[in-house]
Amino acid sequence: MPSEYSSYMETGNKVIDETAQGSTTIIEPTVQGKRKLYIESYGCQMNFSDSEIVASILSKEGFNTTNSLQEADVVFVNTCSIREKAEQTVRQRLRSFQKAKKEKPEMIIGVLGCMAERLKSKFLEEEKLVDIVVGPDAYRDLPNLVQQVDEGKKAVNVILSKEETYADISPVRLLSNGVSAFISITRGCDNMCTFCVVPFTRGRERSRNPVTIINEAKELFSKGYKEVTLLGQNVDSYLWYGKEGLKKNYTNLSDEEKAKSMNFAQLMEQVALISPQLRVRFSTSHPKDITDEFLHVMAKYDNICKYIHLPFQSGNTRILEVMNRGYTREWYMNRIDKIKEIMPDCSISADIIAGFCSETEEEHQDTLSLMEYVKYDFAYMFKYSERPNTQAQKRLKDDVNEEDKSRRLAEIVALQRKHSLEANQKYVGRTFEVLVEKVSKKSDNELAGRTSQNTVVVFPKENHKVGDYVQVKVNACTGGTLLGKAIS
Ligand code: SAH
Ligand code: SF4
Ligand code: F3S
Repeated sequence: MPSEYSSYMETGNKVIDETAQGSTTIIEPTVQGKRKLYIESYGCQMNFSDSEIVASILSKEGFNTTNSLQEADVVFVNTCSIREKAEQTVRQRLRSFQKAKKEKPEMIIGVLGCMAERLKSKFLEEEKLVDIVVGPDAYRDLPNLVQQVDEGKKAVNVILSKEETYADISPVRLLSNGVSAFISITRGCDNMCTFCVVPFTRGRERSRNPVTIINEAKELFSKGYKEVTLLGQNVDSYLWYGKEGLKKNYTNLSDEEKAKSMNFAQLMEQVALISPQLRVRFSTSHPKDITDEFLHVMAKYDNICKYIHLPFQSGNTRILEVMNRGYTREWYMNRIDKIKEIMPDCSISADIIAGFCSETEEEHQDTLSLMEYVKYDFAYMFKYSERPNTQAQKRLKDDVNEEDKSRRLAEIVALQRKHSLEANQKYVGRTFEVLVEKVSKKSDNELAGRTSQNTVVVFPKENHKVGDYVQVKVNACTGGTLLGKAIS
């Protein structure tokens, strides 16, 4: 969420704020005698989306979800390894479960997701109270693993798959406002950015069958949802060619595969065509892969939200090379120019890493000057955190001292605060279509929603409700939020 970028930076974790407020909901009225599952999710949207798959798999085994830890028979933490701090947060959380387990010794505690994949069975040695360790591709095995624990054993499955996309599983929507939902379109990542742990925790990239994606979006729309976000570590490299499996380049496809193939631009168009009343978002785009074809599809459909999250990590070409990002500063600037040319009203956000291995002061200045060039609406900003077994950890030195890293990050954050405020000030006086997502945190008489550009707007409720599209005239702003009033 745009208004929360500073807290992301503090927690070092994209969606952790939501978890802090309790991440589970009851999926159906509690039935006496059913076992209860409590899931807490950390990390990126993919993890939140995976928790919904886990809830679905276990609901078939007679589990209801609960948002009360004390009530739970099974407690799962879906974990993130992206930065050290993300892992520390999970460990602290596991410690705090100790009390609950003492009061209820039969409670099963499981670790899912990226940290489970990274640490594998070591987790069982390090965290004695953990009973189950399951990697992101092994969730279908959960009923069996829970049964093993019921029989008094510890259970581990961290096998990564080259095919698994959970395409046929209809997620149980946790944390849902009934308005917006996530749909995973790819799993894994083949990019091997040198700083990044994701290729090791999530495995090879695979694309999900488009028929199942489109059906899931249609079903959500028929249930009253108004917004879907297509998810992948690099959505632009989505490529379906007739079967689940490892990614191939378009040029390597056989004629038969080419005939069946669908790229991200084509998939997006199909989802946008479901209904003009269904907003479509996507995350994350990759500067090396985002195509003009896709930008033109975006521009063509009003219901494809005019917002692109385009992480650049560093504004310096040498550092980008050391990061193995696959583009230069100039290439990135060209992509920005193209977005602004095709969609002048498109907002752009980024991820930025401060103090990567060998980054000099001048190279850091290049990051600041690129920020000046683009003027992002908002950004997620991080200090480089060395991750075990990544290329950077094996081949490079984490040699920017802590003090410089912190100062560079602070400079990046200060500049972004200024740009965010300027971006919001530009919106004052304009009218936007806002999709209402919730009642405002601050007042029951106010609603909160987002513009197509992904900016949060708060306005007096009057006779509007969650799920409505409302024309709102913006009359004031803060660095993170627009304030306005509905117009008839
Ligand atoms: N697939 C997305 C990013 C997923 S991870 C992409 O490539 O854009 C989210 C963000 O975490 C990254 O964009 C990066 O800015 C940050 N990140 C990843 N590894 C990191 C590390 N070792 N230290 C600090 N930040 C990191
Ligand atoms: Fe990590 Fe790079 Fe893949 Fe993003 S594209 S998940 S940063 S390896
Ligand atoms: Fe974290 Fe794994 Fe996502 S490391 S950012 S939860 S892919």
